[in-house]
This record gives sequence, structure tokens and C-alpha cells, in this order.
Amino acid sequence: MKSVDNVDKKKSLRILAIETSCDETAISIAGGSLEKPEITVLANVLISQIEIHKPYGGVFPALAKREHQRNLPILLAQALGEARTGMDEIDMIAVTYGPGLEPALWTGINFAEELAAKWKKPLVPVNHMEGHIVIALLKKNKIQKLDFPAIALLISGGHTELVLMRDWFQYEIVGETRDDAAGECFDKTARILGLPYPGGPEISKLAEKFRSTSNQSPVTSNQLPRPMLHSKDFDFSFSGLKTAVLYTVKKLPKLTQKIRREIAFETEEAITDVLVAKTLAAVKKFGARSVVLGGGVAANAHIQKIFSEKIPAQIPDAKIFLPEKNLTTDNALMIALAAYLRAYHKKLKAVKNITAKGNLRLGK
Ligand code: KG4
Ligand code: ZN
Repeated sequence: MKSVDNVDKKKSLRILAIETSCDETAISIAGGSLEKPEITVLANVLISQIEIHKPYGGVFPALAKREHQRNLPILLAQALGEARTGMDEIDMIAVTYGPGLEPALWTGINFAEELAAKWKKPLVPVNHMEGHIVIALLKKNKIQKLDFPAIALLISGGHTELVLMRDWFQYEIVGETRDDAAGECFDKTARILGLPYPGGPEISKLAEKFRSTSNQSPVTSNQLPRPMLHSKDFDFSFSGLKTAVLYTVKKLPKLTQKIRREIAFETEEAITDVLVAKTLAAVKKFGARSVVLGGGVAANAHIQKIFSEKIPAQIPDAKIFLPEKNLTTDNALMIALAAYLRAYHKKLKAVKNITAKGNLRLGK
């Protein structure tokens, strides 16, 4: 890989970023300073495919690919229009190359490669999970300072992992789920309760309703398990939780809305308890000075609330970074920001060709 030739001599960098790893087609254009860590968002547009995939109860890869192919040119025109810029003013093209659904990733990569070839721009591959981490640092277009070591908890539909960062872009996964991801647990529980996909926001809404109408004694009288809460490692397991919900529901004579709310509440509490306990343990073990939350599940208001209460209470010196709600789910600004921060820290590599890596991992 060669380094990006003309970037070193410039004072700022205009990045066009493309994200197609799952069911959002997204393009962002951002300008970053190479003298101080500052980024200006010029455009951040996306088309969500949630409604298209809803009937399948999950993301259908062939359909995602077709939609990405259709949406990319539309979003490119929209992003360039909003940013009031032309391709000639773009300094580099960044694209997600994994992890994700490979047919979906390839559409973004092929589109990025064609653009880069046509406009003679450097092409930069970005790890989607790195995007989820760095986007938590962005507050009102300002990039907050990350102190190391840092612990990032990445929670999405496909991932639940605790990542240790000893420095910029140095990742070590210290714990991860052994079966279902946290988002998958939300989605599967929602399906058991007869709620639509994606289940996380639905469970969250019902749980909030339960809290606001609470003081009722639990109808299910069955507190859900907190899998691996006391295991000595930093791993997670969520498939047992979903199974416990399934058995609870099977035993019920009737699944009423009241019981739905209570189970949603219990599920959210159980997932949150495990996530916060494991994160706190990792923060203590590695002496982390920053805690970062990222991924679609980080949109969950209850999880954000508990993290912002418990981390400062138990580790007063640690900084906590929670992503803005509209930037927790997949978007291309997180990809632009990751590319920008790599350029700023002189860790950016441009390539000629990119290969999609569905199972790409952070670190080694
Ligand atoms: O990061 P993301 O957009 O896509 C993946 O890379 O997986 O995450 C999607 C996941 C889904 O499982 C969805 O149910 C979950 O994030 N999610 C939530 C909330 N919003 C989205 N889970 C819990 N509470 C939410 N408010
Ligand atoms: Zn994601």
C-alpha cells in the first residue's frame, strides 16, 4: 500500500465517503483540517432500506445489493448538491470494506473504485467498526479528545465486542459475544413478542411505557437471566436470554400488551446490566481513561442513561463518549471521520483495489 501522496502537503482534506455494509446506503462529504482535529460536515445523506426488508424480518442480502446499486448514484448527486461541490474538489474517496454483508459491501466498493478511477482520486478502505468508534467523539462537529487507554463497547445487529485501544488505531478485542449480538437479542425478542423488525427501537419504546406506568408487580413473575454476568472474562452470551423470553411467552395463556411491555422492560434491563457490568470490569482491568459506546444499539436511551450514570459514579476519572442518536445507526459520516482521523494522524493508506471482507475484525 502506498501512502496518500499529496495529502501531507495540504492544510485540509475534502473526503467523500461511501457506506453500504448493511441496509443503509449512505454518502457523506466532509472537510477536515490537517492542522488541528476539526471536521466540517458538508453533506451526510442516506437512504434506509428498513421498510423493504421488514417483510423478511431481517436484511435480505440480494435485495440490499440491488437497492444500494440503485441508490448510490442518487445519493452522490444529492451529496454533491448539498455540499455545493464537484468531484474535482474532492481529495479522496473512502469506502467501507467490512465487516458486513459481502454483496452489499461490494456495491459500495465497486462504485468507489469507478469514481476513483474516473476522477483520479486516492481510494481509502475503512473498517465499519472503526467508524462506529470514532463517531462517538463528534459533538456538534467538534472532535473530542480521546485519552488512552480507551475501552470501546461496540453493540450492533452483528457485533457485541469490547475493544481495548492503547493508542490511535491500535485495537485489541478483549471480549465479544459467543453467540448472538446484543442487537440480535433485541431483534429476536421483538419477533417473539410479535413486534416488527428492527426490534431494538420497538423494545425500547415498550420498555419506556412500562417504566412510566410502572409500580405494577411483574406479571411474568420471572426475572430474565443476565448471561455471563459473573464470568471472569469480558465475553458475552445473549442467546439464552432470547430463549428465556421464548419460554416465558410459551407459558403464558395470552400475550397481552401489558405483558409485552413488561417483557420488553425486562429484556432491556437484562441486556443493559450485562453490558455495563462487563464494560466497567474492562475499564478497571485495563485502567481505561476513556469509554466509548458505538453501534446501532448505542441509540438505546436506557443504555445511554445507565452508562452515563454508572461510569462516572464508579470511575470518576474516565471520560465517556456517547454517540449522538442520529449517528448511532449506520451512516457515511462515520466513515469520512475515520478516514479523516487516519489522515490527521498520518495513518492513512490509499490502495488501487479493495476486497470486501465480510468478517473483517478490528486489530490483528
Ligand atoms: O449498527 P447498526 O445500524 O447495523 C449493524 O451494523 O448491525 O445496528 C442495528 C441494530 C439492530 O439490531 C437494531 O435493532 C438495533 O441496532 N437498534 C437498537 C435501537 N436502535 C437500533 N437496539 C436497541 N435500542 C434502540 N433504540
Ligand atoms: Zn453498524
